Amino acid sequence: MKNVIVTGSNRGLGLAISNRFLEDPEIIVIGTIRSGIHPIINERFIPIYLDLENTDSIHAFNSQIAHLEIDVLINNAGVLLETGSEATISMETLRTTFNVNLFGIIELTELVMAQLVPSSSVINITSNWGSYLNEDFDSRFPAYRMSKAALNMYSKTLSKRLEHASVNVLNYDPGWVQTKMGGPNATLQPEKVASDLYDLIYGKI
Ligand SMILES: NC(=O)c1ccc[n+]([C@@H]2O[C@H](COP(=O)([O-])OP(=O)(O)OC[C@H]3O[C@@H](n4cnc5c(N)ncnc54)[C@H](OP(=O)(O)O)[C@@H]3O)[C@@H](O)[C@H]2O)c1
Repeated sequence: MKNVIVTGSNRGLGLAISNRFLEDPEIIVIGTIRSGIHPIINERFIPIYLDLENTDSIHAFNSQIAHLEIDVLINNAGVLLETGSEATISMETLRTTFNVNLFGIIELTELVMAQLVPSSSVINITSNWGSYLNEDFDSRFPAYRMSKAALNMYSKTLSKRLEHASVNVLNYDPGWVQTKMGGPNATLQPEKVASDLYDLIYGKI
């Protein structure tokens, strides 16, 4: 059996990814949640509490899975706290955004790293809003954009650090997805993105 960690598995893209990976009978999904409520009922789904803003929570999560070998870590959970109309940067919003979208992900990944098996994958869900190549670039959502840009560079450096261990590290931009974050006008369904991600990891693309 393969152990796959999906952060933010209770809704949105994380829920769709968890459901898609559970269709594979060889996969156990360790899904992170922040409340006791979870929509997935499956004996191969293990929900565990994780708040990426809280270092104690990250360590507590890791201690519960420390005995497991990990095949895939999908750093999906993230926040977009800005409305797009801000004229100034709120330091509080910037700090919270970085705590979740960058520092929490890094802290979790560095702890899980020792459990990654050869040929395993770390997938960091990024956004074209964090890319210098974004063609529709504008000034909105600076905290979110900066957090994803920094996450991209973490992935790049991590991929070099883990080259010797045959661990694949990828930034994955899902596109504009219909979730609470993406809104109802988004062009992609989370199930399609989840299916593409599964195919990417398990070699069907
Ligand atoms: N939707 C898009 O169009 C789009 C585009 C590009 C990139 N992305 C990226 O895709 C990923 C998933 O986004 P989504 O659209 O599915 O967003 P979403 O519907 O807002 O879901 C966000 C998930 O992150 C979790 N989360 C938030 N803060 C957390 C924290 N402090 N600790 C642990 N978990 C936390 C949420 O849990 P709670 O329910 O407990 O809050 C939820 O499960 C994000 O990284 C996002 O930046 C999305």
